[in-house]
Amino acid sequence: LRRIPSENSYILITGGLGFIGSHTTLELLKANYNVIVIDNLSNSFEVVFDRINLLAQKFHKQNGSQMPSMRLHAHDYRDTKTLIPLLEEYRLPSRWRAAKSKIAGVIHFAAYKAVEESISHPLKYYSNNVGGLIDFATNLGEFGIKTFIFSSSATVYGTLANSGLPLKEELCVHKEEITVDHNGQTKIVQPGCQGITNPYGRTKWICESILADLAASDPEWTVVALRYFNPVGCDSSGLLGEDPRQTPTNLLPIVVKVMTGQYAELQMFGSDWETTDGTAVRDFIHVTDLARGHIAALRTANEGNLSENFRTFNLGTGSGSSVLEVVNTMESVIDRPIPRKAAERRAGDVGSCVAVADRSRDELKWKTEKSLKDACQDICTFLDVSGLSS
Ligand code: WQD
Repeated sequence: LRRIPSENSYILITGGLGFIGSHTTLELLKANYNVIVIDNLSNSFEVVFDRINLLAQKFHKQNGSQMPSMRLHAHDYRDTKTLIPLLEEYRLPSRWRAAKSKIAGVIHFAAYKAVEESISHPLKYYSNNVGGLIDFATNLGEFGIKTFIFSSSATVYGTLANSGLPLKEELCVHKEEITVDHNGQTKIVQPGCQGITNPYGRTKWICESILADLAASDPEWTVVALRYFNPVGCDSSGLLGEDPRQTPTNLLPIVVKVMTGQYAELQMFGSDWETTDGTAVRDFIHVTDLARGHIAALRTANEGNLSENFRTFNLGTGSGSSVLEVVNTMESVIDRPIPRKAAERRAGDVGSCVAVADRSRDELKWKTEKSLKDACQDICTFLDVSGLSS
């Protein structure tokens, strides 16, 4: 199958105005892809589209390169009345062995992602995250659009995250695999995952399984499932920070609420974990590094360099930071204390969850370049630019 070269290809990105989506849309434009953003604006704002455009224009002007095209399709990716005409626009005249569409790949972010909400509203999560994926992939397949980058999550490792086992992709596989362990012993890994603790995480695992079966059924499909660890920070311009109007559940946005005086203090959930300082450890990856991981996955897929036509990759730094280390890092950036107190553990939490990122490094030729401190500094730039810093 002839693949359209990556330069000047069109990439369809769902949820492209969200936190991770917007950073990925920007990096796609910087990498000379034309971008079609599908976003129903249910959890994002159209102004983000203009900011991405501004940043990409500025980048290409500075580099003397041509700004690719970008367009916003402000509809739900599940609405076939608007999706089908859109895909029709990019259909290529059917010639023998030619690609059927100008769209060289899809990055699928659009999904619900709140763990707590998935526990109280599981059907909403299965309908959108799983049902939506099935219909979307069906529609794409009919247009010959079969390079698919899926937004997955380290949540699929479930209780394995707490086992002390190195979190490698082969811990959670969709078909039997033979792997060699660090002692050179071969071992057969059975399909499955262990102890996913919430419906949100289960939707991600089920979607991976669906895509693995799809890829096994049709070699024309190339699917990459990217398992994110803990995305933090924002673009260094400060224009794409996490929207402060939402009620955050993740650590860094809550630290921001404390820094800006909206919350009195940070509650550190658990101070008796078996970690260096007793607070929980996570793999905090800068969202720009995470976005660039998608470009690397797309490039590897488009060049036909994936070892299998369904492949999972961890997107993490490979090293952990504790909650206390995050607070200390942010305090070193703002040069003032952040009120915090030790609190009870949060239900469903694990003590440590850190990626083994070797497969991404070796097969995607990608690794993280930004630090936790960079993320804290970029968040402060966002607060200054937004007029939120106190
Ligand atoms: C990080 C650490 C908390 C808030 C979640 C989802 C996961 C994925 C990434 C989608 C934990 C501690 C937090 C606070 C705290 N999302 N914390 N005080 O739980 O690792 O992962 O986001 O894929 O699905 O579960 O991230 O940022 O919520 O917590 O002490 O006020 O910070 O206990 O140890 P988590 P988080």
